[in-house]
Amino acid sequence: MAVWNFGSINADYFYLVPHIPGRGETLAATKFSTGLGGKGANSSVAAARAGADVFHIGAVGADGAWATERLASYSVDTRHVETVEAPTGHAIINVAEDGENAIVILAGANVDQPLVTALQALDAAKPGDYLMLQNETAHQATMAEAGQNAGLKVVYSAAPFSEKSVRNVMRFVDVLVMNEIEAQQLSAALDTDIGKLDVPHILITKGSDGASWFDIQAGTQTYQDAFKVDPVDTTGAGDTFAGYMVAGLDEGLGVAAALRLASAAAALKVTRAGTADAIPARQEVEAFLAAQPA
Ligand code: RIB
Repeated sequence: MAVWNFGSINADYFYLVPHIPGRGETLAATKFSTGLGGKGANSSVAAARAGADVFHIGAVGADGAWATERLASYSVDTRHVETVEAPTGHAIINVAEDGENAIVILAGANVDQPLVTALQALDAAKPGDYLMLQNETAHQATMAEAGQNAGLKVVYSAAPFSEKSVRNVMRFVDVLVMNEIEAQQLSAALDTDIGKLDVPHILITKGSDGASWFDIQAGTQTYQDAFKVDPVDTTGAGDTFAGYMVAGLDEGLGVAAALRLASAAAALKVTRAGTADAIPARQEVEAFLAAQPA
């Protein structure tokens, strides 16, 4: 089967800083670098590096040909990445010495893709394929509804968190993906326990505290410990997890095996600076897993 990903494509600008700057603080960066990013592009690259057939649906500006080429270089099919009049989206990412980050994004072209062409891209999707979505584009709810109607398994990462978007998209979703903070935000916004949400499956990633998959109908939870690594840069770890998880499920792995694979990929990513360009290949992830104590 295939993985379709309707998602953002950004130029990521990384500033290595001694700590995340506080309100009103000016800070000198000790290093600057750039790369391919965006929650959509990162998860597409992750799924492709895991071995899935990935079709990215998204938009860049006239200044973004390099980003489309970079995506393609990671074996992501980019025939549904279109060029629009807005500038390519970008992100300013402060990475502190402990690996934590603070991000400012400019959506740009990501929110300028016409709905009609995004929907048309799904014409070639087949029932049983996966459709991934995040919150850095426009039209998530319409795309999720179209995906569900076409028999796709819709996997929605509620990031960056937006109560309005989650409320609109949730009813079309097979798997709702959140980190711990997003889960708390959603729980508070809806005034309900996460376990009572009306979605079939929920995946909550908790960084160094592992990840949990909830099958809401069955009332079960599958937990995966995080692998211990020395963090260099946590940016994009959640996107790496989501892409590898979907690729694992798409190739037929059970939930526990897909969680283990995704967790290892995210752990490896955290040891490297960067986002899409730092996502490990499947062989590296398998080697990392093979080296783990039994
Ligand atoms: O999740 C990390 C991503 O968030 C970065 O690549 C940045 O572009 C923002 O979208």
